[in-house]
Amino acid sequence: MNATVIGSQLGDEGKGGVVDLFSEDADVVVRYQGGDNAGHTVVHDGEEYKLRLIPSGVIRGKTGVLGNGCVLNLETLFDEIETLRTRGLNPDVRVSSRAHVVFPYHRVLDRAEETSKTDEDQAVGTTGNGIGPAYEDKAGRRGIRVGELLDETVLRDRLEYTVPKKRRLAEDVFDVDTGIEFDVDHLFETFRAFGDQLQSEGMVVDAGSVLTEMARDGANVLFEGAQGTHIDVDHGNYPFVTSSNPTAGGAITGTGVDPSAVADGQIIGVVKAYLSRVGSGPMPTELSEESASRVREEVGGFGTVTGRPRRIGWLDVPMLRHAARVNGFTGIVLNHVDALGGFEELKVCEAYELDGERVTDVPSTTAAWARCTPEYRTVETWSDRDWSEIRDDGYDALPDAARTYVDYVSTELGVPVYAVGIGPGRDETIVRRHPFDSSED
Ligand code: IMP
Repeated sequence: MNATVIGSQLGDEGKGGVVDLFSEDADVVVRYQGGDNAGHTVVHDGEEYKLRLIPSGVIRGKTGVLGNGCVLNLETLFDEIETLRTRGLNPDVRVSSRAHVVFPYHRVLDRAEETSKTDEDQAVGTTGNGIGPAYEDKAGRRGIRVGELLDETVLRDRLEYTVPKKRRLAEDVFDVDTGIEFDVDHLFETFRAFGDQLQSEGMVVDAGSVLTEMARDGANVLFEGAQGTHIDVDHGNYPFVTSSNPTAGGAITGTGVDPSAVADGQIIGVVKAYLSRVGSGPMPTELSEESASRVREEVGGFGTVTGRPRRIGWLDVPMLRHAARVNGFTGIVLNHVDALGGFEELKVCEAYELDGERVTDVPSTTAAWARCTPEYRTVETWSDRDWSEIRDDGYDALPDAARTYVDYVSTELGVPVYAVGIGPGRDETIVRRHPFDSSED
């Protein structure tokens, strides 16, 4: 049996904790896109782990696979592995030989392009980790894959073809002084060493074949999306997006499994009970800075990777409708319900007013989305409380108004609620259905 966990908004929905929880009954947890732009916080046995690349389920001792759809900063990967080892874990991480490698020049180019866009007020607010430039090279057929690090002749040939072009781009277009990030010999030595390390640890695999074989042998596979639907390069608010497909289709193309492995499994959308965003782009329900800073104090609203303050908004139901359709959600997890406790007023956006018309879905151009004015419904509030008591007593112990809120979202999307998050810890999520439990179907 398989399940896919996907962010339904703009990333930061708390997918890491959900994956960690649901991976209890999984044998393997697979990331299918993105790189170290993601930030997953997992609390395990009272200890907090912040992961950017390694699939969250690895903390539970599950096999973690980074699929061909990922772009890998190998320094981050080995740092994370080392940190987990230092903390007494024995991470089992496999990497697709088809995954692309993020090189230091990608990070320089990412920041250079963002800086140039800032002058024209077009910056995306990327994480600066070279993700876009790495995917650009992949699509431009000048990227370098993990499997190519294992062959010295191929690696050198590829670097000699690509790096001079990247250096000229940096110097001539972006006016950047280039250094060792663009030095072929230095890159060759550094990445050959990474290749050796990957090989000596037996980490490089043909992920599609391995996963297919595991599934055939009865393994439960959990596909872990990073980022969220509305920053998907195709289905998000382009150009304020990441450069990969966090949506369900990405789990297929980003791993090499038979499409039915994803489509016939559970597809769980993770919904944050309010909205937050770390990058630029429209956000129709955004709160004023004064209100947002008050909310941030309550909910700790800073990006895991960049530490930037999150922009905050009310729950936007048209965004969720779009996500439910694009991904084919079979269920949702509503996270951070505790964070809304104690608000004097609570609103949800049910539809937009766009150029005099009422619309209930997200328009397909970002310019039109930016013109949308939210149509709000004010909902009943619930007070803050000791959420640990509710955790022990389960779903029915939630305040009535909170349950009404959860039920409202579930009804709007026409799918059941698998879990409700009322705190950051693994045991602070009330699970109603488990994606791997077929007895509940
Ligand atoms: P990039 O992925 O670093 O290129 O950034 C592109 C956009 O995606 C920016 O708005 C980032 O803030 C946003 N982004 C990237 N990764 C995440 C994430 O894991 N959570 C939330 N936003 C993200």
